[in-house]
Amino acid sequence: MNFDEELRKKIGEVEQTIAYWLPKPEGFQSRVLEAMEYAVSAGGKRLRPLLMKETAALFGEAGGSLSCFMAAIEFIHTYSLIHDDLPALDNDDYRRGRKTTHVVYGEDIAVIAGDGLLNYAFETALRGFGYAVTIDDYQRIQCAMNILGRKAGVYGMIGGQCADLLAEKPEAEVTKETLLFIHENKTAALMQAAMTIGAVLAGADEEAVSKLEKCAGNIGVAFQIQDDILDVTSSTEVLGKPVGSDAKNHKLTYVTMHGLEESGRQVEELSREAVAILQSFDKRNLFLEKLVEQLIYREK
Ligand code: IPE
Ligand code: IPE
Ligand code: MG
Ligand code: MG
Ligand code: MG
Repeated sequence: MNFDEELRKKIGEVEQTIAYWLPKPEGFQSRVLEAMEYAVSAGGKRLRPLLMKETAALFGEAGGSLSCFMAAIEFIHTYSLIHDDLPALDNDDYRRGRKTTHVVYGEDIAVIAGDGLLNYAFETALRGFGYAVTIDDYQRIQCAMNILGRKAGVYGMIGGQCADLLAEKPEAEVTKETLLFIHENKTAALMQAAMTIGAVLAGADEEAVSKLEKCAGNIGVAFQIQDDILDVTSSTEVLGKPVGSDAKNHKLTYVTMHGLEESGRQVEELSREAVAILQSFDKRNLFLEKLVEQLIYREK
């Protein structure tokens, strides 16, 4: 099977996992559930659950709780997109090839749809304990819960979004260090959660987990630099979200700070380093290595 075919197949499996855990719109709260479903089922690359599953495969059997965590990370990522697009934040009208959630459902419902997904993510991850048999299983799931909470929160994604928003203010002085902090947190933190949770659930030791944290940190920073590049060079049709969003919001990015060419070079260097880390484990996952390599050239 070639890479593209394999990727399609694996994304299909991830889609099934997400659909399985996604709550159905019903009852008096069906409007918020519909908005949650609208945002999640619009698709997207499903990169984070895929990274989680493929990283787990580097170490062995992760058990039934893996599927709970795969859905949970995509719910958290999707909530972050709903809120990121709100008028108070980036004020964007398109996402994943559709009108954004607040455009369709109104800002009020979009805010609580984000809240709903965040909360439901933890409800779903907690279901993972239902698959635990041994004390070891419980400990792994507990560790995965800690990672998820931390990396999605103020010491991770939310912290990065905070620094990102403040960096847009006219009085802000954005240094290289600030920009790296923003990328490491608003974007890389969830990739780190994805890969380290996969590893932990499959029984990886501490040293392996910390190597993967570094690896995913690189993948995440490279991913955001590429996102900033595509915001300048791509089109809404290809991306499924508006281009020029960063310029509209006066956002300082790798592209404005280092230029397109140097930014592209950094994407490549960070990604190659990440692949080298993956190659340093006893077991290899060639699909995962190729996936990370392909992200260098991604067009959406
Ligand atoms: C978009 O993430 C937000 C960033 C961190 C740049 P993705 O590019 O993974 O979005 P989807 O999930 O494919 O829509
Ligand atoms: C957002 O970064 C990262 C999140 C935590 C949602 P961007 O604001 O650049 O993401 P896009 O370009 O809107 O997807
Ligand atoms: Mg943003
Ligand atoms: Mg945005
Ligand atoms: Mg962007």
